[in-house]
Amino acid sequence: MALLSRKLYLLGALLVLVSAAGVVQADNDEGDDEATVEVVEEDEKYHSPQINPEKVYLAEHFDDEAAFKKKWVKSEAKKQGVDENIAKYDGKWEIQTPSRKIFKDDFGLVLTTEAKHAAISTLLDKPFEFKDKPFVVQYEVTMQEGQNCGGAYIKLLSRGTNTKADLRKFYDQTPYTIMFGPDKCGNDNKLHFIFRHKNPKNGTIEEKHSKKPTQRLDDIYKDKEPHLYTLIVRPDNTFSILVDNKEVNAGSLLEDFTPPVNPPEEIDDPNDKKPEDWDEREKVVDPSATKPEDWDETAPAQIVDPNAVKPDGWLDDEPETIPDPEAVKPSDWDEEMDGEWEAPLVDNPACAAAPGCGGWLPPTIPNPNYKGIWRAPLIANPNYKGKWTPRRIPNPDYYKDEQPFRMTPIHAVGFELWSMSPALLFDNLIITDDVAVAEEWAQITFMQKRAKISRDSDSVFDRAIKFAGDNPWVYAVVIVVCFVIVGLITYVCCGSKSESESDPKKTDAVGEDDPHASDGEDELQDEPERARKADLEGPEHEPVEVETVSSTDDSAPLVDTEGAGDGQRKRKPRKE
Ligand SMILES: *[C@@H]1O[C@H](CO)[C@@H](O)[C@H](O)[C@H]1NC(C)=O
Repeated sequence: MALLSRKLYLLGALLVLVSAAGVVQADNDEGDDEATVEVVEEDEKYHSPQINPEKVYLAEHFDDEAAFKKKWVKSEAKKQGVDENIAKYDGKWEIQTPSRKIFKDDFGLVLTTEAKHAAISTLLDKPFEFKDKPFVVQYEVTMQEGQNCGGAYIKLLSRGTNTKADLRKFYDQTPYTIMFGPDKCGNDNKLHFIFRHKNPKNGTIEEKHSKKPTQRLDDIYKDKEPHLYTLIVRPDNTFSILVDNKEVNAGSLLEDFTPPVNPPEEIDDPNDKKPEDWDEREKVVDPSATKPEDWDETAPAQIVDPNAVKPDGWLDDEPETIPDPEAVKPSDWDEEMDGEWEAPLVDNPACAAAPGCGGWLPPTIPNPNYKGIWRAPLIANPNYKGKWTPRRIPNPDYYKDEQPFRMTPIHAVGFELWSMSPALLFDNLIITDDVAVAEEWAQITFMQKRAKISRDSDSVFDRAIKFAGDNPWVYAVVIVVCFVIVGLITYVCCGSKSESESDPKKTDAVGEDDPHASDGEDELQDEPERARKADLEGPEHEPVEVETVSSTDDSAPLVDTEGAGDGQRKRKPRKE
């Protein structure tokens, strides 16, 4: 019966899959035609973005490969401090359309290689000086194959990278002013904003890392969609970070960075030491306390219950277990190899009706007179001086930089990356001192792209609805598919259970958990009742006894029943 319904399910599932494939095929054929028409329409609308060059320090759409090749410089450097074989910046950069085409003539800069160091950079049209205008950098990243481990951040390179010759040497140690953008490895994902701050007192440069974004940004590494990253740093030392035009982090250069821009005014005096006699113990043992006269440390914790009485009918002379009188020495038992044969132990049937067998021992109870080791009580320490802390002194390295915004001027911008996933696509990079210009640039680039993507996904849905409207049998297929899925789930969850119920001998678990399964006499053929009982109580038995059962059972008829339990499982590998 069960077999028949299973076959029916499989047949039904097959039929539904075949018809569903037909629907998908038909939908695809129609969809493809429509999509082709749409792409042509949209492509006519896409133009590489134009922006007034006066308003920007750099605006790069990567659509003009010839212009890109003139402007951008691939690094010929080697990374410092790594193995010679992998030190070269030999990762490949290509101008390509996205792997999922959005607009026909929209190209991006693609890091096509994985697990290689790769660096590329360009000079700004004019250097950016941090004075009275905000610094704005914005760019798009599409992790076309997702990202497990690797960066997609941008580096704004400091004064000193003023020529193309400098850029050919671009490597991990090239001084940057700001590093910004996504970076991930494993579960650790970051949206960096790091700036390099110059100590006004001694000129040392130190990296300052911004606090974390206010929300987790897991999707940008998974959804393979274009995302827009914007950093705005203002002359009032505030900053904002936007992803897809939504603020995900904001704060102050003076307050939200580690280590902080300005060192603490006071520090612990490194020369101040805790005095020898400084007593930090809040409580001490009461020196005046003495052990009471009647405190007996030797009284035991447990004593024999003086009120316990041996139950009536206790069989002192009967052992709890006896050798199984019905066990037979296996015919292939070899006394030389296997030792002397002994029958397995079974419960002594004489004990079944009695309250107990063997020597009776009265139970033990907690000793009401038990006191344990005496300890003197604790009292407040009269010499307690509190927790010692070193004296505070003015910090000799103290300075106060009120204008961390006044960073080292930026002359170039580049990517210096290592990625475990290939096909990182960068697009529509802009550097400006006007937030409105960056917004305008996003409007004519990123926003167009997102609008096109959502039109495309809408139209797939719309087309499916329209197709179903024209072909009402689609609804029938959908309903049948739902039934089949519910049926399959029911079959998978409940089907296997009913199978094990119908044949309890297949599992030890059923035999142990459910006494009724074994109590059915007819199922157990000619197995003696004692052996079954031993199996039921198997888990409570001493391991030695189980072991005895298994070794003596050797190829006796018992082995073929469920009786031997653990012993049987242990034996099998030996024989095969
Ligand atoms: C500059 O001062 C900082 C402490 O503010 C110190 O860590 C660093 O070593 C100093 N650098 C030099 C070159 O003295």
